[in-house]
Amino acid sequence: MSKKLNILFATVYGNAENVANNINKIAIDNSFVSQVNELNDVDAKMLQEIENVIIVSSTTGEGEIPENGEDFWNLLDSNPELNHINYGVIALGDRSHDNFCNAGKLIDEKMLALKAKQISPRLECDGDTAGSDEWAESFIDMIK
Ligand SMILES: Cc1cc2nc3c(=O)[nH]c(=O)nc-3n(C[C@H](O)[C@H](O)[C@H](O)COP(=O)(O)O)c2cc1C
Repeated sequence: MSKKLNILFATVYGNAENVANNINKIAIDNSFVSQVNELNDVDAKMLQEIENVIIVSSTTGEGEIPENGEDFWNLLDSNPELNHINYGVIALGDRSHDNFCNAGKLIDEKMLALKAKQISPRLECDGDTAGSDEWAESFIDMIK
């Protein structure tokens, strides 16, 4: 049976969504059943059904999660148990700002605290999305 992969993004200008869509193509090429959603599309029920997930989040404001990820952040704040989830985070940011890649960092640390299994160390992208495809290929190889 094909494995499932959820790809979730939070974005302001679309970079994280583009990364998520590219990862979706890679997942399909690897015979995964994959699905792309905004982080805020995830509710408590969906969270319990997720097996494998890649989260791509940019950082906005002064180290904040984009608005379309805020509901997800609040959901994590209710401390659901996530030990059934394999996950990885791609953090988009820019070193010209303080709090480099802080949104991805916050989400990554919270997922880990909730006992989700981190498959690959967080990728932090500085001003572009370089390395995200390669990171996703490696992630997918590890959960195949
Ligand atoms: C108003 C604004 C605030 C930002 N704040 C941060 C920040 O606090 N930390 C950081 O690492 N990057 C910050 N960035 C950089 C973005 O995270 C980065 O450009 C990212 O690639 C945007 O991705 P998106 O199109 O998915 O939103 C900021 C960018 C803008 C325009």
